[in-house]
Amino acid sequence: MLMCLKCGGIAYRNSYFGTVTCQSCGWKVSIKEYEELENQRKEVSEMNDKFQVDYLDKNGAIKVISDQDEKQTYTKEEVLNSVIWGDALKVLKKMPEEIFDMVFIDPPYFLQLPKKELRRWTVKTVVEGVDDDWDKFSSFEEYDDFIRNLLTEVKRVMKPNATIWLIATYHSIFRIGKIMQDLGYWILNDIIWVKTNPMPNWLGVRFTNATETLIWAVKDKSSKKYTFNKDYAKQFGVGKIGANVWVLPLCNGKERLKDEKRKKIHSTQKPIELLKRVILTSTNEGDLILDPVAGVGTTGYVAKALKRNFVMIEINSKYVEWIKKRFEKSLRITDKPRVSERRINQYFNLENNS
Ligand SMILES: C[S@@+](CC[C@H](N)C(=O)[O-])C[C@H]1O[C@@H](n2cnc3c(N)ncnc32)[C@H](O)[C@@H]1O
Repeated sequence: MLMCLKCGGIAYRNSYFGTVTCQSCGWKVSIKEYEELENQRKEVSEMNDKFQVDYLDKNGAIKVISDQDEKQTYTKEEVLNSVIWGDALKVLKKMPEEIFDMVFIDPPYFLQLPKKELRRWTVKTVVEGVDDDWDKFSSFEEYDDFIRNLLTEVKRVMKPNATIWLIATYHSIFRIGKIMQDLGYWILNDIIWVKTNPMPNWLGVRFTNATETLIWAVKDKSSKKYTFNKDYAKQFGVGKIGANVWVLPLCNGKERLKDEKRKKIHSTQKPIELLKRVILTSTNEGDLILDPVAGVGTTGYVAKALKRNFVMIEINSKYVEWIKKRFEKSLRITDKPRVSERRINQYFNLENNS
């Protein structure tokens, strides 16, 4: 008798067919796959136990709060400028309503990558994609439910004139947009982030995907007095009118957090420059920003450097630990775009057009 790793019910091993099947939810995997998943689960649970003891830290450069089931509510003061280690869907329910001026959400992508290794066609090295457990959902329905629940909780904690940003690739942005509209959010813009250093389509079977889309919205159509710093928007957008296209590289170089073996800590760490643009265009100093799926904490890190307040939530203890480390080194930041207009023009070959 085994534990079902999907619903926690009772699962049975069938050595003849080489499978494990759950009697409650019908989940079925090969014995080999079950053993791999079980090993991963044990590793995470051991790490979490250790974390529970080591990191209830309030004295570091960032307040780290470990969410507990017994904790029923949080005050704004309790969570101000902290990262909460916990499940956003539970933690948000405990927060007071209408406290945030802006929300940035970089949710799981649900990339649905094939299980087999993807190798670069020419050099034959393995492509490091996003294959993390946090990006896995069993179906579109399960993914949609997660996004819908998250956006419902978030809406409650947004001030009436707050704005919200959601970033995703073509895998999920259309679903997210529909869910937002169904929930009554009113879309103000989409911003196309053009990456100057995208991962090529190694197999040469599709266009290289060099963009991500950011949706920028208000809670509902009647929200009018939201913050929009148009001078920054003009400065950051492409061309003289500051169009809704931002050209900047993926997070790399010294900015990219890596472990001692030079392996990336987080597969989707966002560039500081991207968050800088989001924060400067849609908030003012002293505002309170929420990131409920914080990863390695880019939103709070940039918010702090730009004199904004923040609250972050992240479910994975390893990332929370890295947020803590990251905040020990303060960030120096300017409000000028890091990618110059000249480089943007070069990129689009527009130099001689003006
Ligand atoms: C796309 S990443 C965010 C990356 C982040 N913007 C950065 O720059 O590091 C999404 C994150 O959501 C976290 N996550 C997934 N489900 C969650 C949940 N229910 N509550 C809190 N965090 C969650 C994952 O662990 C992952 O780190």
